[in-house]
Amino acid sequence: MYELAGESTLVYQEIARKVSKERGIKTINFGIGQPDVVTFKRIRDSAIQALEQGFTGYTPALGLDELREKIAQYLTVNYGDVKKDNVIVTPGAKTALFLGFLLFINPGDEVIMQDPSFYSYAEVVRLLGGKPVFLKLNMNQNGFSHDFEAIERLISPKTKMLVINNPHNPTGSLFDPHEIERLMEISKEKKIILMSDEIYDNFVYEGKMKSVLEDPSWTDYVLYINGFSKTFSMTGWRLGYVVAREDVIKKMGVLAGNIYTCPTSFAQKGAISSFDSFDNVKEMINLFKKRRDVMFNELQKVKKIRVIKPNGAFYMFPYIGELLRDLKMEVKDFSVELIKSKGVITIPGEVFPKDVGKDFVRLSFAVKEEDIKEGITKIAEFVDEKSQSDR
Ligand SMILES: Cc1ncc(COP(=O)(O)O)c(C=O)c1O
Repeated sequence: MYELAGESTLVYQEIARKVSKERGIKTINFGIGQPDVVTFKRIRDSAIQALEQGFTGYTPALGLDELREKIAQYLTVNYGDVKKDNVIVTPGAKTALFLGFLLFINPGDEVIMQDPSFYSYAEVVRLLGGKPVFLKLNMNQNGFSHDFEAIERLISPKTKMLVINNPHNPTGSLFDPHEIERLMEISKEKKIILMSDEIYDNFVYEGKMKSVLEDPSWTDYVLYINGFSKTFSMTGWRLGYVVAREDVIKKMGVLAGNIYTCPTSFAQKGAISSFDSFDNVKEMINLFKKRRDVMFNELQKVKKIRVIKPNGAFYMFPYIGELLRDLKMEVKDFSVELIKSKGVITIPGEVFPKDVGKDFVRLSFAVKEEDIKEGITKIAEFVDEKSQSDR
């Protein structure tokens, strides 16, 4: 069996834990991929109540009808017409992605995905005998964008699927609505499945979120992925969902029944209340916007780091290619040495396949403002010290 790569954020947290234990250095964690707030009270209370009422058995494989209905309503109000029967609730968005790949990818199939991208897309495609084909994102003044000539070149008779993520991990890009529209058009024209991971859809600071569900003909070609982990800070609850044509959802339900039976019962009860918690979500997004601005301003002070202000998600993806060449360092060594010397965790861009990330690090701003200031100051010190010792 193909040997899968694991979740790299944990690797760097472990290095930091050791450094902190051995040398007492404070850890500042910019590696984190989750909001730093506890799941909102209304949601917690509903799950507790479900437990107290003994709601502890299996649920339908597709998830509770009431939750599927709520998800369909949320998507219909915000993006496009979705019915309950278009929805399967899964244990986290990762499982949603997995079911999508499992159902459609056969050995030899090619899957085009963004470079950089969330690491598990390529890993799961490889596990299933498919071939990830990477589409480099271009960095320009305003952000990252897709190269449409390259997409045309990359599409082959073996291309089965195009995977996109918007807003984007790791760059924090919110892609221009016209770009998303073109990606939708290409998928339709070339008869390719479009898997769109929109798990950060509420983390939008400027600009308009364009969802693939806005196309009235989305059922013809779309696998839509979203979940509760980020919007409602429910990472540990493990709840995500796929939206697709009804017959596809039925097949996924059969897979689900064979693999994990159903998502956790009382967690689903909590998630039903999450749709009444958008006041809390708004508050969190406003807080993150402020932190984004603080991190962006602080990073301007660090020599030889070039950063674009992200419009979405909660990541910044500074370019450090020039710095790395000056220091004669690879990005992975940069991240490891930064932890060992200053206790600051960043994620080397190379863990987001394939090539683009080698010149970047990812920083999450789901971190307290004072820690952002302290952490970036320490990065600046690290860069200065390294540059001097290199002379
Ligand atoms: C782009 C993207 N998709 C999916 C996931 C997985 O989410 P979940 O925790 O719901 O499995 C993440 C988590 O970091 C992500 O960044």
